[in-house]
Amino acid sequence: MKKNFLNLGKQPLANSFLSSNTKKNLSKEFFYNLRVAFDTDSYLVSVAKPVNPKLQYTDKYAHRASESITMRNAFSKIAKKLDNRFDPKIVMEIGSNDGVFIRNFNKRKIIAVEPCKNLADLTKQKYKTYPNFWTISLAKKIFLNSKKADIIFSANTISHIPDLAQTFDAINLSLSANGVLVIEDPSLLSVVKNNSYDQFYDEHVYVFSAIAISNVVKNSNLRLFDTEKIDTHGGSMRYYICKNNAKYKKTKNLIKIINEEKKANLNKFKTYEKFSKRVISSKYKLLKILKKIKKKNKKIISYGATYKSSTVFNYCNIGKKYIQYVTDTTINKQGKFTPGKHIPIISPDVGMNDTVDYAFLGAWNFKKEILKKEKKFIKRGGKFITHVPYPRIISK
Ligand code: TYD
Repeated sequence: MKKNFLNLGKQPLANSFLSSNTKKNLSKEFFYNLRVAFDTDSYLVSVAKPVNPKLQYTDKYAHRASESITMRNAFSKIAKKLDNRFDPKIVMEIGSNDGVFIRNFNKRKIIAVEPCKNLADLTKQKYKTYPNFWTISLAKKIFLNSKKADIIFSANTISHIPDLAQTFDAINLSLSANGVLVIEDPSLLSVVKNNSYDQFYDEHVYVFSAIAISNVVKNSNLRLFDTEKIDTHGGSMRYYICKNNAKYKKTKNLIKIINEEKKANLNKFKTYEKFSKRVISSKYKLLKILKKIKKKNKKIISYGATYKSSTVFNYCNIGKKYIQYVTDTTINKQGKFTPGKHIPIISPDVGMNDTVDYAFLGAWNFKKEILKKEKKFIKRGGKFITHVPYPRIISK
């Protein structure tokens, strides 16, 4: 049974950056109710009523995974690791974005699936790319004329697909006998520990735990045999899944992580009720900090026009009154306005200037990379604000 535990209010689509802030354009903005639920049978945590994916993954999709050095390095590392461990002949990626993972492989090995046409266009010249949503009929079409996949990789994508049963059934159809599905998604354990409620937005239909994934894949005759904690996206998990009859044995690491999740009571509703209370308190603490700074007439901006910060700003009602503008390195976000709160987005080359006193870490998941990059800002007395794991000004 699904039980709601968190209400993040009316939210826009997190990737719906507006190209203009005219009244006419703003009046067309789409909002939905963001409520988060726990399933007492499967232990899945999900958005209670997911948005139609056709509204989300369009030919205007803004996110480019290769924008960040951290992500480029992470994908190159995992590509090498999978090559060494499994020696795959055919590698398929579901949600290949701008090709940041597949470019680490010989093009003859690669099959890419990417429903956002603007992104699929970026890889289709070099790699066999299907500009489609991942479904059973697509799986049948691809593997009618191709050997089955030895590795199916999918980072930050499976958690975006409402229909998990079809997704995993289609994966089962596509894997070779000892083929391995490797998925990476934000970790529920990290979300609960870090109070990072901003991992919930329309695209993150699910925030997975190992216990939930293990339950869900069983329905498609698959099994989870290994798990790794990874630090991308503010704390993620990598899951290794195979067919029921494949040769892989359950690893010690998987047992350890499942025990850790059980110890943190991720299989109990009361954990999420407590989490929800902490989220409400986080909102008021963050607003208190921003109000105090504004009273002193200091300038606050936000660093990174992330989807996560869309949840924070809309949930906490943080608009231009507090945040003068948002800086982001992504060229196609620059010149636009943030979803819901319509804060202008500009390039950090222009925005990270000497007039900035405080920068809210919208991209807190890249804190290390950003603090390293912004030494000059910090040296001259500039300060970062974060809400993870609790709202505070970062002093060093
Ligand atoms: P991302 O990590 O994908 O978060 P989300 O999934 O919540 O959108 O986005 C990070 C954003 O931050 C991306 O738009 C690029 C931007 N960014 C900067 O502007 N400067 C930086 O130094 C880094 C690391 C990221």
